[in-house]
Amino acid sequence: MINRMVHETPKGTVYIEGPCSDAHLAELTMNEKLTNFRPPEKQKGALMMITNMPHGMIYIARHEKEIVGYVTFHLPDESSRWIKHPRVLELGGIEISADWRRCGIAENILKVSFTNPVMDNYIVITMEMCWHWDTRNTKLDIWAYQRVLTNLFGTVGLQRVPTDDPDIIEHPANVLLARFGKNVTQNDIAIFESMRFHNKYGNAVNLL
Ligand SMILES: CC(C)(COP(=O)(O)OP(=O)(O)OC[C@H]1O[C@@H](n2cnc3c(N)ncnc32)[C@H](O)[C@@H]1OP(=O)(O)O)[C@@H](O)C(=O)NCCC(=O)NCCS
Repeated sequence: MINRMVHETPKGTVYIEGPCSDAHLAELTMNEKLTNFRPPEKQKGALMMITNMPHGMIYIARHEKEIVGYVTFHLPDESSRWIKHPRVLELGGIEISADWRRCGIAENILKVSFTNPVMDNYIVITMEMCWHWDTRNTKLDIWAYQRVLTNLFGTVGLQRVPTDDPDIIEHPANVLLARFGKNVTQNDIAIFESMRFHNKYGNAVNLL
């Protein structure tokens, strides 16, 4: 069942809705400034593909017939260590068009997606890597950007967790955030904890 919220902004009414079907996305256009990860039409194709993946979910922010923002959830990449965990779901990306930022859309799209009870069955992670951040349009430096993102994801309970995942340690501004759903078992949490560090020093480098 699709969940929907009406969000009034100074730029107009935005509907926040999901999980969306590919048929619903097909009827909509992409805002031309949704270019953070790839060109808008390619990104639309990627969003549609995710709706058909096992455990894949897309939530969008829509103004009239135009997508102005989205957040994606899917299983971790095959090449990632986290795919070996039975209960990890990855928040792959969140993007709000530069025309619609600072209107509370990101915060509300997260709020709506995390009201879905299915989220409580997962450890939801997000790998925040600074080369994906839009420092140019936001005019934030990477450290300020990191703070904005940790606060934003913190509003739905994602917290920073230390790891030696190579994608995270590649740059000191990168962070792994995780939220343990209330139905996740202690055993699944223990498995996750045991996966955070692969190097031989294990928790000796767990300084956070
Ligand atoms: C990061 C991003 C998703 C924020 O979207 P948004 O809809 O503008 O965020 P919100 O309006 O919900 O902002 C929530 C809070 O975050 C903070 N924030 C967001 N953008 C900010 C900025 N440019 N400067 C300072 N604070 C900012 C503010 O505290 C804001 O609340 P406020 O506006 O009431 O002060 C958006 O800038 C974006 O799409 N960036 C490009 C893609 C990206 O970096 N995605 C994250 C990695 S996957």
